[in-house]
Amino acid sequence: MATPLAAVVLCAGKGTRMKSDRAKVLHPVLGRPLCSYSLSRALQLGASPVVAVVGHQAEQVQRTVEGLFPNKPLKFAVQAQQLGTGHAVRSAQAALHGYDGPVLILYGDTPLLRLSTLQALKEAYEKAKAPLALVSATPADPTGYGRVLREGGKVLKVVEHKDCTETQRKISEVNAGIYLADAAFLWRSLATLKPANAQGEYYLTDLVELAAREGGVAAVQVDFEDTAGANDRAELAALSKVLRERINTAWMKAGVSFVDPSNTYVEEGVELGADCELGPLVSLQGATKLGKNVRVGQGSILTNVTVADGTTIKPYSVLDDSTVGPNCEIGPFARVRPGSELAEGVHLGNFVETKKARIGKKSKANHLSYLGDAVIGAGVNVGAGTITCNYDGVNKFVTELGDNVFIGSDTQLVAPVKVGAGAYVAAGTTVTQDVPPMSLGISRVPQVNKEGWVEKKKKAKPAK
Ligand code: UD1
Ligand code: CA
Repeated sequence: MATPLAAVVLCAGKGTRMKSDRAKVLHPVLGRPLCSYSLSRALQLGASPVVAVVGHQAEQVQRTVEGLFPNKPLKFAVQAQQLGTGHAVRSAQAALHGYDGPVLILYGDTPLLRLSTLQALKEAYEKAKAPLALVSATPADPTGYGRVLREGGKVLKVVEHKDCTETQRKISEVNAGIYLADAAFLWRSLATLKPANAQGEYYLTDLVELAAREGGVAAVQVDFEDTAGANDRAELAALSKVLRERINTAWMKAGVSFVDPSNTYVEEGVELGADCELGPLVSLQGATKLGKNVRVGQGSILTNVTVADGTTIKPYSVLDDSTVGPNCEIGPFARVRPGSELAEGVHLGNFVETKKARIGKKSKANHLSYLGDAVIGAGVNVGAGTITCNYDGVNKFVTELGDNVFIGSDTQLVAPVKVGAGAYVAAGTTVTQDVPPMSLGISRVPQVNKEGWVEKKKKAKPAK
């Protein structure tokens, strides 16, 4: 059995340097809240539970995190006042009551954190049998970070930038803010912390010196970029860019083509099959999943959409919370709204909007239509300008079109209404009653031609 592991992720800080009404950890990095990355890595490492320490805008942060990680072993602890990182971890003690294994501690503002770094930390911790292990890095400019002090190669303590002497500031190895600590050591030591430092805070980093005295500190050194924290919006944008490049490069290596990877946005968690092709300015968001050979044209945005093999999404289409079958052709300029289910070979052309519409195999709506709350069979042809009138101002109603129905152009279908299999609806019809199968529904006013009408009109009222 794998060794048990719990985690604490600090998400309580205000993030003053963001100059924002929104908590720093909720600012998006490549479409996902900043704190989601540390939480994901802790979960990927197998930590259970993962305790998110919330404080500033605690309710919004908790709600967002719960929404992002349904059915995951998450817990929340509130740090009402932000008195420092040591105080923040201590706030999680009650949530881990009774747990006595190793505790992974992460900060909520390090979106480039790699799972491999955490695996290396875990190995180092297990091998050293020390009460504490930490991750360090050597940035070009260590200003602002806690410095790692060593003696004879062994980690002695971490001194925060603001508390450093001139000589200590010259040390280039910094504390990355990623730790693994034995629970008993952790809770015992946190209780002894004093805010006797330049910032008047309870520093988590003071634990390093205590652990060094009690049995040593294991340290893992990694690339600084992997540990970089985002403190202001410029850093946030810079980290988003690095993350985008990492994700796009990994997909290209896995067999996905990008016309221009520098402006294509694929969020973490998206899945792509081999031979997909993504045009410029494409955004794939949330739990979007593309099968093999799916082409997504320039400027299209897909959020929580599953697309099967061989489908083409033409440029500037926007799809949300829907499923698209194999070999469909969608767009350009199509709008597929939540709850749409398109079967194999469906065509939706320009300026066609669907919402909660189930559309059967090989059915087509190629031009200018609104299909909302609709159940449409296979082989249906929906003519240009067809509108389902699904809303009476209070309630929504369903339109049903049977297999092989033909709807003429400029038809309104006033729901609830059914058109039976094989029936035709004449162009320009307002369908207010069900049309039986294999019949024609027509509601047009018969056309009258008034011959000579223009001449008469001109005589009656000469132009000025
Ligand atoms: C911290 C480390 C520093 C390290 C650096 C790495 C301490 C004392 N210092 O400094 O050694 O080099 O990270 O990036 O730990 N937070 C809370 N509650 C609090 C205070 C902070 O939840 O009371 C959270 C913040 O939301 C943030 C994280 O803890 O996610 C780190 O806090 P921050 O103020 O950014 O610490 P640094 O000054 O960067
Ligand atoms: Ca920080």
